[in-house]
Amino acid sequence: MTLTPEQDLEKTRDKRDLSCFDLYSVDQLSVTDLGVIFEIARKFREYKTYKFNLSKGNTQINCFFENSTRTLASFDLAAKHLSMDTTSVWGSSSVKKWESYLDTAQTLDAYNSKVIVVRSSEAGVAQVLSRHVWASILNAWDGWHEHPTQGLLDILTMLDHVWSDNLKWKTVTIVGDIMHSRVFGSLVRLLNQLWAKTRVACPETLRPKHVELFGVELFSDVEKALEGVDIVYALRMQEERWATGFIPSLREYSKMYGISKKRLEMASKDAILMHPGPVIRDIDIHSALSAVDEQSHILRQVENGLAIRKSLIWLFTQRCDGKTKTFNRK
Ligand code: CP
Repeated sequence: MTLTPEQDLEKTRDKRDLSCFDLYSVDQLSVTDLGVIFEIARKFREYKTYKFNLSKGNTQINCFFENSTRTLASFDLAAKHLSMDTTSVWGSSSVKKWESYLDTAQTLDAYNSKVIVVRSSEAGVAQVLSRHVWASILNAWDGWHEHPTQGLLDILTMLDHVWSDNLKWKTVTIVGDIMHSRVFGSLVRLLNQLWAKTRVACPETLRPKHVELFGVELFSDVEKALEGVDIVYALRMQEERWATGFIPSLREYSKMYGISKKRLEMASKDAILMHPGPVIRDIDIHSALSAVDEQSHILRQVENGLAIRKSLIWLFTQRCDGKTKTFNRK
C-alpha cells in the first residue's frame, strides 16, 4: 500500500517526542532528540514544497526584533508548508513604545499561538519568555549567544556530507568573527556533542576569552588551521556590531583570513565550504568561490534550513498537543 506523504511522516516520527517544549539552546537537545529532528527533516526534504495538513489549525507568530532574510523566510515557509496560519511582527511596539519583551510575547500568546519564533539582540530573551508563555518558543538568535536552528541545519549539512550520524574523526575549521557569533555559539556545542574536532581561526581581538573551554584548537594562522580539514566554515565579519575597530581594516582581514580558492585547497580534497549567510563577498569568501561551486554547500544549508524548521515546528506542535508546559506565569 502506498503511503500518503502525511502517513509517511507519521510513520517516520513513530510517536516520538522531543524532550523539551521550547528551543532556546541546543544544550536542551539530547543525541536522541537530534536523531529524531534530522530523520524527520530528511523526510520533509524529500517532499520539498508539498503542502502537508499536519499542523493545520495551529498558529505561528514570527516575532523579529532584528532583521532577517533566511531565518524569517524559512520559518514562515516551513509553517505554511504544514498548513499553519502565520504572521510576522517586527517588535516595533516594544522598541518604539517601551513595551517589554514579556508583554509583547504574552500578547502574541493570547492569540492561541502554538509556536512563537523570537529573534532579539539580547542574550537569554527566548529562554526567559519560554517560562511565561504557553506557545513553544523557538530561538531565532539571541544576541551573541545562540542561533539553535542555524546550528541544526549546519550539522545536518555536515552529516549528509560525511554519510554518518556523527562527526567522529572529522575536523571542522571555523574562521571569522567568533566573538560576535551566535552561530558559533550553537555550532560548537553541537560539534562537541557529535564528537567532531573543532579548530578556530581568527584575529586574537575577535577571539572570546576562555573559548578554549569548548575544547577547540586555536589558530592565528588560517592556513595552518585549514590543513587537511574536512569542513571549512566561514563566519560573517559583523562590523556593524563593533563599537570600536577590532581589526585594522576589512581589507586586511580578507588578506589574512578570507577563504580563497588557494586556501581551500589546503583542506582535504573532499572538503566542503559552508557559511551561514549573508556572505560578504571578497571579505569572508573570495568571489572566485561562488555559492554554486561544487565545494560550496551554502545553498544546501539554505535548503536544509527549511527542512529543519519544518521538522521542529511539527514536532513542537505535536509536543504541546494534550500536554501543558509546567511553569509559573506569575
Ligand atoms: N543565517 C541567518 O541567520 O541569516 P538571516 O539573518 O538572513 O536570517
